Amino acid sequence: MKVNKAIIPAAGFGTRFLPATKALPKEMIAVIDKPLIQYTVEEILGAGIRNIAVITSQAKSVMRDHFAPSPELESFLKAKGKLDLLEEVRKISKLANFTYIRQPEPLGLGHAILMGERFAAGEPVAALTPDDIYDCLVSCTKQLVDAFAELRGTVIVLGRVDREGTKKYGIIKVKRQVSDRVFEVADMHEKPGPKKAFSDLGILGRYVFTPEIFDAIKRTSADSRGEIQITDAIRVLLDTQPVYGLLFEGKRYDCGNKLGFLEATIALALKHPEFRGPVKKIIKANLS
Ligand code: UTP
Repeated sequence: MKVNKAIIPAAGFGTRFLPATKALPKEMIAVIDKPLIQYTVEEILGAGIRNIAVITSQAKSVMRDHFAPSPELESFLKAKGKLDLLEEVRKISKLANFTYIRQPEPLGLGHAILMGERFAAGEPVAALTPDDIYDCLVSCTKQLVDAFAELRGTVIVLGRVDREGTKKYGIIKVKRQVSDRVFEVADMHEKPGPKKAFSDLGILGRYVFTPEIFDAIKRTSADSRGEIQITDAIRVLLDTQPVYGLLFEGKRYDCGNKLGFLEATIALALKHPEFRGPVKKIIKANLS
């Protein structure tokens, strides 16, 4: 049950980030100096996974370019003696084995993950939404992979959410608490709102699936907007096997919306050795 593969669905339109995302994929917007998708890739590597499938739309070849070698840029940096940057740029193209898979239309997160069925080839697979940055001592994906190895069942990442969060995320109903941070799931609903929410445990964009998830997605009907939601597919999976939720340890930034993105930028800048001092000064100067 070792997890060797991960899927990054990155084929959405990123409408909450317009106009920035009109031509630029949301996943390529940088927090400080790295595009969102590079944070996701580094989190995956932190779990010892090196085979990564990126699900993209036609317009997103720029992501492929980011993770490919760039001979012209490398020669330029070498000629200018910018060896630190040269090393940084070279490192990116050697990070992992990338596969790019086209999602013909953005028909939902469940549908995007289904595009990775041949890539998974009957093995368990992690899936991560690249608009979340997880800042954890132990990679959040590693936390999930370790739980998966122990539980031998699908594990989804959970976080405590407030009333607003019940409108933004899938919410689980707990069957039983397995340990301090692990829950067996009884049921779940996508964005139920505060009145219908089973609990305050939200599903926050990280999963390690058993191979049966793909059949479950195929048996899942589209919602009223015509999208196949992964939450609905996991409900289908629940008919035949247990599903667990793990309360991760660390901090998560929801970079899929403008305010969350700003929060991530400020918080990570304040932790960055080079920027902490100057950023504090900038904030102070602008508050007075
Ligand atoms: P989101 O719903 O947050 O992203 O999906 P979006 O659709 O791009 O953004 P908005 O809501 O219009 O602002 C989470 C992740 O799943 C991918 C997105 O690219 C994003 O990284 N996704 C979503 C797909 O790959 N395909 C889809 O059909 C839907």
